[in-house]
Amino acid sequence: MRIDIISVLPELLESPFSHSILKRAKAKGLLEINVHHLRQYSTFKHQQVDDYQFGGGAGMVMMMEPLVNAIEDLQKQVAYDEVIYLTPDGKTLDQRMANGLSLKGNLLMICGHYKGIDERFREHFVTMEISIGDFVLSGGELAAAVLVDSIGRLLPGVLNDETSALFDSFQDNLLAPPVYTRPEDFRGWKVPEILLSGDHRKIDEWRHDEAMKRTKDRRPDLLKKQ
Ligand code: ADE
Repeated sequence: MRIDIISVLPELLESPFSHSILKRAKAKGLLEINVHHLRQYSTFKHQQVDDYQFGGGAGMVMMMEPLVNAIEDLQKQVAYDEVIYLTPDGKTLDQRMANGLSLKGNLLMICGHYKGIDERFREHFVTMEISIGDFVLSGGELAAAVLVDSIGRLLPGVLNDETSALFDSFQDNLLAPPVYTRPEDFRGWKVPEILLSGDHRKIDEWRHDEAMKRTKDRRPDLLKKQ
């Protein structure tokens, strides 16, 4: 998969993809990430990318011209399956959305800043609008990093058996069960006996029951989701 990201703060995206699972995905050639600086596509003085909003009011709006220059330049080189705008008024990201996006080929992500981007760009170029939650960040970069991470780890061949995404929280609309490692007894706090029994059928049952309990207790809304 190839992911391109357009940003006015590319420095913010230098590190998130250079560690752990995403680093491995890139090294294996399963994921390519390119960050593009929006200012490079501005033909205005001082590489301006934003302007006052029509109708008045506080806050700047990202202009059409640099955004369109950027996307049209990139589209000459890559056919994108989705053009994603990260915005708090988008559809809220969940595991199902990440699963769906991990099956696509190439993605373009646009990070907003200030008051956001000119509505006409959203109408004519953006195919998906995604929020990472009901809160407002200073810009779309950290949201893009979260989205790329949630997708990248699902790409076939990225995770091995030990890190398999099959047992992640949310994969069956259930939270993950509790996990334990050595020692069996820490200050008298013991690991549940069943996990030491070697009976894998019973262990699976226990894990499922615990996942169910935890979900009912913390996120009953997930049990109503199809
Ligand atoms: N930009 C600012 N806040 C955001 C959010 N919650 N999700 C996605 N993009 C954003």
